Amino acid sequence: MKELVKKLSIKVHEDFKQLSALDKELIERATAQLDNAYAPYSNFHVGSALRLENGNIYVGSNQENASYPLCMCGERIAIYNAASNEPGIIIDAIAITAKNLKKAIDAPISPCGACRQVLLEFEIKQKKAMRILLKADGPEIYEYHQAQDLLPFSFDPSFL
Ligand code: THU
Repeated sequence: MKELVKKLSIKVHEDFKQLSALDKELIERATAQLDNAYAPYSNFHVGSALRLENGNIYVGSNQENASYPLCMCGERIAIYNAASNEPGIIIDAIAITAKNLKKAIDAPISPCGACRQVLLEFEIKQKKAMRILLKADGPEIYEYHQAQDLLPFSFDPSFL
């Protein structure tokens, strides 16, 4: 418990130009995914791209269904895409972008609770911090040092 009560490590980049070339590429690949979202019900598009330790990039976008609970988030699709193609992989960083077709979203959006739990599961499994980059319409990019920072006080495998 005590070790969880720590400062959140989040970096705010004022704009894209401040990022490394690799992180720029990841954000660009995530942004390109916004066009592949199937979101006729929410009109909310989410694109994601992650880079593995071996340099390979995997992408995903949200896919909705008339039966709403079946909708799947973009970042989870990217992670499951990577894990099913390269099991045992280590994810260095994941970028998540969003576009609301009904209004501009200036500040980066946060992944939903279910996705945070999945990001954390993979971080625990790989025993290595996974950086998370978030961006929406505005210039700012939020960078979390690790998935745990997005889901403090989580339920994790150590309880089982
Ligand atoms: N969505 C994501 O893809 N990721 C999130 O972290 C939050 C929500 C999707 C699900 C649904 O298709 C739409 O955004 C509105 O909730």
